[in-house]
Amino acid sequence: MRRDPIPGSGTARSKSAHRGTSVVKTVRVKVDPENPPREVIEEAARVIRSGGLVAFPTETVYGLGADALNPDAVMRVFRVKGRPPDNPLIVHVADPESIYLLASEVPRVADLLIERFWPGPLTLVLKRTEVVPPVTSAGLDTVAVRMPDHRVPLELIRSAGTPIAAPSANKSGSPSPTTADHVMMDLEGVVELVLDGGPTEIGVESTVLDVTVYPPEVLRPGGLSVEEIERVVGRVRVPGWARGLEKYTSRPRSPGMKYRHYAPKARLILVEGSPQAVYSKVQELVKELYGTGTKVGVLTTDGKRYENATTVDLGPSRDLRTVAKSLFCSIRALDESGVDVIIAESVEEKGIGLAIMNRLRKASGGEIVSV
Ligand code: TXA
Ligand code: MG
Repeated sequence: MRRDPIPGSGTARSKSAHRGTSVVKTVRVKVDPENPPREVIEEAARVIRSGGLVAFPTETVYGLGADALNPDAVMRVFRVKGRPPDNPLIVHVADPESIYLLASEVPRVADLLIERFWPGPLTLVLKRTEVVPPVTSAGLDTVAVRMPDHRVPLELIRSAGTPIAAPSANKSGSPSPTTADHVMMDLEGVVELVLDGGPTEIGVESTVLDVTVYPPEVLRPGGLSVEEIERVVGRVRVPGWARGLEKYTSRPRSPGMKYRHYAPKARLILVEGSPQAVYSKVQELVKELYGTGTKVGVLTTDGKRYENATTVDLGPSRDLRTVAKSLFCSIRALDESGVDVIIAESVEEKGIGLAIMNRLRKASGGEIVSV
């Protein structure tokens, strides 16, 4: 007798499941990230090929995958996430050569970066070919491409035989998911399959780099630091809005940056400045808020404690990789604990710290206290 590798996934692929946000049965399957079982990958590939949605881990965050070349499947991704239709998706590939299917021009800097950083947390924006459906690129003449450094998506893409469009697997606006629990919280009942490969390694999304311009321009700081990119291609541009310093006003180069993002249900206040000044200011704010009966949570580093607040330690301030890894799940945890306000301390804006600060600034919706 043939064993059903994913019990229930047969019904999950019923016709109605593919219409809009109608309720589907979401099947969650544990997979070994180092060695995902072939029958599970093959079943997931069948879901992708039939126009369904599969959430999977990557080295950055969980992605919500659909066949990138199937406009109906991609449209469903936008619907179930509640994503604005002008915010394009990243197309994931399983080998560097696939870029030639999707991109009409591959400049030399792109070749150098691919050679050095793929697979990995670097997304390249290039001029697109006609193969990419307009809906995937939200009508732009470019396409964002990345090769993830994770066996689950790599094997899934190969088995499905098609590139996979995958935004982060959260409802639009909320923090990106770093565990399958987060994915279930946001998307249970609207996706067919969730592959649970445990917590993700990096914890913030990939760096998005526009290589259609010279010097290349960072459209979203992420898991790969600007310093590492510059070591390979020389200077890159980091516009103020990519840091989160100014409001997004220029032309929509990275449409995603103009929306409020990573936002917890609680109000988030970011306190920026030198560590000592930040510590004093956070103490003061906690005292003030606590005094008015407000439940306060604090995102801190280096094991600091704050009286009258639920404090979550993100890790050592000298090890920002650890801080990045715990950032989104800590924001979600504080939300779950029912705090009204989250106060976040700034971190140093170097290496992956640039991505952390970008996410915190966006999560704050501009509520920033500089000391
Ligand atoms: O790490 C990641 O990048 C994750 C994992 C799942 O791969 N994906 C992810 O996708 O974060 P998403 O959709 O949440 O973010 C994609 C970002 C958005 O800011 C979007 O505006 C930008 O990439 N983007 C996509 N295509 C673009 C294009 N053609 N031009 C400019 N920006 C683009
Ligand atoms: Mg996202």
